[in-house]
Amino acid sequence: MGETVLITGGAGFIGRHLASALLQRGDKVRVLDSLIEQVHPTRARPAELDPEVELLVGDIRDDALVLKALKGVDKVVHLAAEVGVGQSMYAVERYTSVNDLGTAVLFQQLIDNPVKRVVVASSMSIYGEGLYRTQDGRLLHDVIRGGRHEDGTWDPKDEQGRPLIPVPTPETKHNALKSVYAIGKFVQERLTLTLTRQYGMEGCALRLWNIYGPGQALSNPYTGVLAIFASRIANGQSPMVFEDGQQMRDFVHVGDVARAFLLALDHDKADGEVFNIASGAVRTVEQVARLQAASMGRPDLEPEIMNKARAGDIRHCIPDLTKAETVLGYKARQDFGEGLAELAEWVARQEAEDRVIEARKELEMRGLVA
Ligand code: UD1
Repeated sequence: MGETVLITGGAGFIGRHLASALLQRGDKVRVLDSLIEQVHPTRARPAELDPEVELLVGDIRDDALVLKALKGVDKVVHLAAEVGVGQSMYAVERYTSVNDLGTAVLFQQLIDNPVKRVVVASSMSIYGEGLYRTQDGRLLHDVIRGGRHEDGTWDPKDEQGRPLIPVPTPETKHNALKSVYAIGKFVQERLTLTLTRQYGMEGCALRLWNIYGPGQALSNPYTGVLAIFASRIANGQSPMVFEDGQQMRDFVHVGDVARAFLLALDHDKADGEVFNIASGAVRTVEQVARLQAASMGRPDLEPEIMNKARAGDIRHCIPDLTKAETVLGYKARQDFGEGLAELAEWVARQEAEDRVIEARKELEMRGLVA
């Protein structure tokens, strides 16, 4: 080992966990990150970024900075991106600029300063709705959800009005890009695979499902649902659940995702490939809301079922992990219950810290801190 890895966007949730895993096995880690306010409210170096990481603060679209960041680097993990699906639908210019142009700038510099391998974070969002099967066994690649039906149900239906059944979605499913975010992730994935091949580098894309774990940006309203639920429960409020709560997701722990990146960086057979990365366990959003409230000691906070859909949401997309398992040897290890308990503990500590600061200010105002 002992390689130098550049992680773009590496001061974020996934990057910090990955940086620690890389350092632990003896690699050197450099991070290029603009510390955007939506994710890093104080714009300071995050305490959870390992002190051994070399941090360059700046924009992925700054070609001179990217050039500097690539000096002496063996491999790149490209995580720098704007990450809110809903937000991408109105902040079109910003999302396209950071996600699409940012990746183009990175590769423009890589052409003259090639590395051994580039691994990019792609997303399950590029599938749109996942793969479905009709009740008579036909596979459907291009399901478009219609929202709530007259009978009050939400699952997509076939021509005869029978509900379609979600089935595991393999990497071979057709893409259905339904948001500016998904378009950007697809561009990032294709630029990586096309240009690494063209210029004698290796490339790999991980299509990530819903990631959770300690360190997720609690203050970012566009963050993942478990962080949003955690903030609400911590404030004594019920989780607000869209639709009927029966939409299915696969929640994968950030530690498992970090391990998947290590495999994608190292494995001989990863070059030129895309892999689904998830946990392999599917749950409804209502189920996770209940489990999370219980894990935070507030089982009384029943999920509030809104019966309203969030614009652009996918009903179901469940992963087929066969390729990641057979080619990379990837298998998620984190037990979901233990993962929720760990998240609950972390959230409680965040609150405690907040209160400590508030309490300290109160004391200072009264002249009680010397
Ligand atoms: C989306 C993207 C994914 C991206 C992730 C993070 C799709 C298919 N997937 O996942 O690629 O990486 O965002 O930006 O677009 N929910 C509630 N209440 C809330 C918040 C969310 O019920 O307060 C529900 C949503 O309606 C959804 C589920 O929880 O059904 C998960 O939402 P979220 O965590 O935002 O992620 P996705 O939309 O699945």
